[in-house]
Amino acid sequence: MREYRIAAIPADGIGPEVIAAGLQVLETLEKRVGDFKIHTQTFDWGSDYYKRHGAMMPADGIETLKPFDAIFFGAVGAPDVPDHITLWGLRLPICQGFDQYANVRPTRILPGIQSPLANVGTGDLDWVIIRENSEGEYSGHGGRAHRGLPEEVGTEVAIFTRVGVTRIMRYAFRMAQSRPRKLLTVVTKSNAQRHGMVMWDEIAAEVSKEFPDVTWDKMLVDAMTVRMTLKPQSLDTIVATNLHADILSDLAGALAGSLGVAPTANIDPERRFPSMFEPIHGSAFDITGKGIANPVATFWTAAQMLEHLGEAKAARVLMNAVERVTGEGVLTPDVGGTATTRDVTEAVCRAIEGAN
Ligand code: NAI
Ligand code: MG
Repeated sequence: MREYRIAAIPADGIGPEVIAAGLQVLETLEKRVGDFKIHTQTFDWGSDYYKRHGAMMPADGIETLKPFDAIFFGAVGAPDVPDHITLWGLRLPICQGFDQYANVRPTRILPGIQSPLANVGTGDLDWVIIRENSEGEYSGHGGRAHRGLPEEVGTEVAIFTRVGVTRIMRYAFRMAQSRPRKLLTVVTKSNAQRHGMVMWDEIAAEVSKEFPDVTWDKMLVDAMTVRMTLKPQSLDTIVATNLHADILSDLAGALAGSLGVAPTANIDPERRFPSMFEPIHGSAFDITGKGIANPVATFWTAAQMLEHLGEAKAARVLMNAVERVTGEGVLTPDVGGTATTRDVTEAVCRAIEGAN
């Protein structure tokens, strides 16, 4: 029996609702597949913890998480705590502390889900966005001076290093190579940003030589939004900086039907530390507590987690169950249905139980 230790951090808003659904589905899978066991420990870190203790997690939080095989994360963000405190207090310290430099964001139009794009259906949009997750525009460099005075200044410095760019390019080319179309688009903004982004392009060209079987092209990020919208079939694997991919992947989620179906994996490819798996969406205050959060993004990221742990079969059983349920029209309101989080979760559990 293979055993895994998972740290669950449901955190804020709809985070606890979707993580509870995810854990229920994982338990059902474990029983159905039968040859692995997941031990979950849940941590109450997040905005409520912050209100009690003045920090989003304990000072030794990263040390506490280190022995786990993976982290299953909900979302952070509360209406009465500034967003930069919630994000920099919990999610980013984990990503950076564990050097989870590859953020992997698959997008597909699942059966039964309608893309907002006319004449674009299942199979027309099948992408994996690779987001650089350790530096770039979110490196945390910069500062503010002369606060509150007319001459106040704020800087936000994007950091690109040869090591950082090379490793994400290799990861992206390898991902493209592993997919049937072997097609990579490198997103850049090297016309206007002539230092870090030009280096990004040069390193892409260098790394491409290691992958002669991968076809690749370059797109400026603004033009990329147009290509994603008008020619989704022309894309497969996409690599972009921390900021660019953050924005493009929300667009990708929307084009695939909803943010509520978009998953993400924050991966340490060298496996020195636990990787972290989460839905892309935030804490969604507008629907918190209503029981209608779409749990599909969380199920999909649970499948990414299983795959990372080496449980490819369980990951497949889970995604097949999810696709069967969406295909049957058991959908939450964000994707045009009337089902609740619980309805979708129970339907997925039943599909897992019935899987052969
Ligand atoms: P959001 O992703 O929470 O919500 C955007 C819209 O999508 C809302 O209308 C929401 O109802 C809908 N939505 C999101 N997830 C859904 C789901 N599973 N099912 C159905 N509908 C869903 O983004 P927003 O409103 O910009 O941010 C809310 C808070 O979340 C902020 O505090 C923000 O900083 C935080 N946030 C945290 C993230 C994280 O923890 N990784 C990522 C994005 C935002
Ligand atoms: Mg985002």
